[in-house]
Amino acid sequence: MRAECSSYAQGVERAPASVGDVAEGLAGAGYLAGGATALVSYLALRLGKPVLVEGPAGVGKTELAKALARFLGRELVRLQCYEGLDEAKALYEWNYRKQLLRIQAEAAGTGWDAVQDDIFGREFLLSRPLLTAISAERPVVLLIDEIDKTDQEFEALLLEVLSDFQISIPELGTVTAQTRPVVLLTSNNTRELTEALKRRCLYLWLDYPSLERELEIVRLHTPDLHEQVAQRLVEVVALVRELDLKKPPSIAESIDWARTLLLLGVEDVDRETFLETMSVIVKHRADLEVVAARVGVKLAAGAAGAAAS
Ligand SMILES: Nc1ncnc2c1ncn2[C@@H]1O[C@H](COP(=O)(O)OP(=O)(O)OP(=O)(O)O)[C@@H](O)[C@H]1O
Ligand SMILES: [Mg+2]
Repeated sequence: MRAECSSYAQGVERAPASVGDVAEGLAGAGYLAGGATALVSYLALRLGKPVLVEGPAGVGKTELAKALARFLGRELVRLQCYEGLDEAKALYEWNYRKQLLRIQAEAAGTGWDAVQDDIFGREFLLSRPLLTAISAERPVVLLIDEIDKTDQEFEALLLEVLSDFQISIPELGTVTAQTRPVVLLTSNNTRELTEALKRRCLYLWLDYPSLERELEIVRLHTPDLHEQVAQRLVEVVALVRELDLKKPPSIAESIDWARTLLLLGVEDVDRETFLETMSVIVKHRADLEVVAARVGVKLAAGAAGAAAS
């Protein structure tokens, strides 16, 4: 697991007054949100409900949480999920070494009751992302990334946190949230999540963007790329996505391809350039063959048509 606490610019939090405010704020943080994304983010902020974001790989699920943190000037606390993730890595863990040292340091003859009271205090607790998020003094954005990689037992564990914003620690009592985090859960839809979890969340399905939005995103990430090349790039990516592939190219791959074309100083996405660089957007051998045949031919035909006219 990777539990990451990164601090973004600590601005004063602005409460968004409208969906438009959120869209604008996210754009200011480098994220171009579609209508549904801006609306669900606005509702999450105003209703204080977690959001479950589902969709194919590389469409901006994780980045949405990062952008919200930047926009709100909040710290991002991230829990990266994996198979077998448990309480000790997600919620909290007792610092056994420190407890042991404390026991050893106690004067001989100190009663067990006194020692026990001592070693199960807050000082001996190691906070993991979920506890960190709810006990933070300033509200944070909590990203529970790739929740579909965990099992249903872990989902059950999350329910207490997501509905009551509290964590029960048997030896210490209940830790209630000091501040309310904005919570985003992401899933690549590799398994169906439980109804109980879904009930507690707002839902956002993120799909591949429209041509216009993808062009905006590509231009945002590679402003130096020639506009015509960027336009052609998103058109070709859309063509590739129409094919029945194992793994269609995502926004992440469009951006990588744009960077590649910029670096190579490409001025037109012709058949040759496409065949040379298509492995940036297509990453399965079988897919490469299909794409080379279908899209490569289309590009050649397009060039022949243009030459004839
Ligand atoms: N709406 C957007 N505006 C700006 N950049 C975007 C947008 N959507 C995606 N991106 C960019 O696309 C890339 C991939 O996004 P991200 O890592 O969030 O995808 P993901 O859906 O979490 O993928 P995975 O399921 O593989 O984890 C990032 O570099 C991100 O900046
Ligand atoms: Mg992600």
